[in-house]
Amino acid sequence: MRIEPETLSPGRRYFLMTSCILPRPIAWVGTVNADGGYNLAPFSYFNGLASTPPVVGIGFGPHADKAEKDTVANLRRTGELTISIPDLALVEQVEASGQDLPYGQSEFAAAGLTAVVGETVQAPYVGEAKVSFECRVLQLIPLGDQGSELLLAEITLFHILDTLLDDYGCVDQRKFQALARMGAGRYAGVGEVFKAGA
Ligand SMILES: Cc1cc2nc3c(=O)[nH]c(=O)nc-3n(C[C@H](O)[C@H](O)[C@H](O)COP(=O)(O)O)c2cc1C
Repeated sequence: MRIEPETLSPGRRYFLMTSCILPRPIAWVGTVNADGGYNLAPFSYFNGLASTPPVVGIGFGPHADKAEKDTVANLRRTGELTISIPDLALVEQVEASGQDLPYGQSEFAAAGLTAVVGETVQAPYVGEAKVSFECRVLQLIPLGDQGSELLLAEITLFHILDTLLDDYGCVDQRKFQALARMGAGRYAGVGEVFKAGA
């Protein structure tokens, strides 16, 4: 079947794309609100883009009722964020933190999570996460003219649970059990891990 993107509604386009581009890691983004409170939200249009320097990218969609999502407003104002990478055990808290709370009401408290303030940034990361990055904003780039934006951010500090690291300085994926976002609101664990060509 051929499908021309402009023949789909934004919702249908979202469902098609997110059920083709699989699995997606989840950036659990911590930022500081204008009143000093903490904001946390999950984003799965997320990936690593470079290691030298260490750069990640996140795609933000428009908000239905506001000029922009709270995360984007906070990034624009502070230039700082954290990204925690949730594991399978944190799926319910991830889902809860994706709900729209009134500005100023913290998703950390609502989801029963510990906010740990960064060392290189003021933004908080999730104390319960095995992997978190502290980051600074490099660029926020508009994607077209309908309110979507691409964040490019540089990692300024890695926090990795000691017991996850192997002798090569890699995170052992079987111990990590990273949570993945699938299509239509589904999740998966990264189950089958193997090396090709061996
Ligand atoms: C697992 C998951 C992944 C999500 N991925 C994205 C995404 O990649 N881009 C986006 O704009 N919204 C995404 N959302 C929706 C945002 O998390 C949601 O709009 C959130 O309320 C934004 O919070 P904020 O206004 O505090 O920034 C996702 C939600 C969930 C639960």
